[in-house]
Amino acid sequence: MSDFAELKLEGKTYQLPIVVGSENEKAIDIRKLRAETNYVTLDSGYGNTGACKSEITFIDGEKGILRYRGYPIEQLAEKSTFVETAYLLMNSKLPNQVELNDFREMLTRHSLIHEDMLHFYDGYPSTAHPMAILSSMVCSLSSYYPEWLDPHDNAQVAQLMPRVLSKIRTIAAYSYKKSIGQPVIYPKNSLDYCANFLYMMFAVPSEPYEVDEEMVKTLNMLLILHADHEQNCSTSTVRMVGSSDANLFASIAAGILALWGPKHGGANQEVMEMLEEINRNGGDVKKAIAMAKDKNSGFRLMGFGHRVYKNYDPRAKVIKKACDQILAKMNRKDPLLEIAKRLEEAALSDPYFVDRKLYPNVDFYSGVIYRAMGIPTPMFTVMFALGRLPGWLAQWMEMHRDGEGRIDRPRQIYTGESERIYVPMNQRT
Ligand code: CMC
Repeated sequence: MSDFAELKLEGKTYQLPIVVGSENEKAIDIRKLRAETNYVTLDSGYGNTGACKSEITFIDGEKGILRYRGYPIEQLAEKSTFVETAYLLMNSKLPNQVELNDFREMLTRHSLIHEDMLHFYDGYPSTAHPMAILSSMVCSLSSYYPEWLDPHDNAQVAQLMPRVLSKIRTIAAYSYKKSIGQPVIYPKNSLDYCANFLYMMFAVPSEPYEVDEEMVKTLNMLLILHADHEQNCSTSTVRMVGSSDANLFASIAAGILALWGPKHGGANQEVMEMLEEINRNGGDVKKAIAMAKDKNSGFRLMGFGHRVYKNYDPRAKVIKKACDQILAKMNRKDPLLEIAKRLEEAALSDPYFVDRKLYPNVDFYSGVIYRAMGIPTPMFTVMFALGRLPGWLAQWMEMHRDGEGRIDRPRQIYTGESERIYVPMNQRT
């Protein structure tokens, strides 16, 4: 294969270097395009734009493959823990026992947030969405830790990563407690990362609380499945904000806000609300399918479709299988799981969805499990954020270390008015 692509423009031929990734993904390097030709590329939605080279996550959307640092998602979901996977994403390798213990210790030691920050929660109305609280609390961390704001101090950044992972978990659990009017529960150092989160979510000061090991296992699996997904909307946001040398807290807060949107992480809440609505209306899935196909309805089948996957999302496959097992272990039946399965079956046998290669994504079945765990619907996207955190951190770090050091700043094709003469008010029609 040639090392160059040829581009013919206005009678001249330009050679553009070809870049090949480790899984044989190919790109045309256009970094010098504008300087040499005065042209830019136009790619709204960035569907054809490689924004960076990355060693963290590989996806083959046609085959339904997802790997973190080379390890298949199915193996990690079954065998790893969230803490180990977070270490893997941020450090490029699985930890040995000593490294894992040190990392765990850091997560345990840095779980508290500044006590003054607890007052912030009182300022939010009880109707505040937990994603609004999470993002602003994470940004506020920057005011309490001014000594941790230099993105170029690698030693400092390495120390900051586990602190951020640990504190954001605490902030997330506190935001739930505040939303239901219960006192916050401080973290317990004897518990590991996921158990501690469940403890802070569900314990109350007036009685003992035993963390259920099955719930801990399930939470580990769900958070692993969400831990990274290469250059999705929120991760690209984290990288873009970080590229201006904004501090880590600001970059992560921006990622949380991007995730909140219903086309991205906010879809998990919307899936549950859609299933509840179908259930309330007698369980007829055909109406939802018809509405999703009607472009004038403004309705999409939430939890379906993906920019990259044109095959079954491998994360959805793991979650769907786990739904049955977990509900059986908890001795629960959920009519919403039955509706979700019927909805999937109806969509996957409908030419609209088949032709467009629209399959269930990670958000389609995750809510059924969160619901069984007692996590309320408005917290679902917060759970996604907790899971995605190691990915954001790893990608932010990689962006700063890739040696490019350039601010992200796309171009545009201007389609507005050409120069006009200012018209005084009394002459305007
Ligand atoms: N329901 C009905 N039609 C759909 C759906 C859907 N869920 N998803 C895509 N389409 C149609 C879309 O209308 C378009 O049709 P046409 O070619 O006739 O115009 C075609 O499929 C291609 O869709 P697109 O909007 O160009 O695809 P995209 O890559 O820009 O969007 C998506 C991807 C995930 C935003 C979209 O599939 C969607 O809105 N899905 C529902 C929301 C959702 O579940 N989001 C979670 C994504 S996975 C978790 C995450 O990464 O956050």
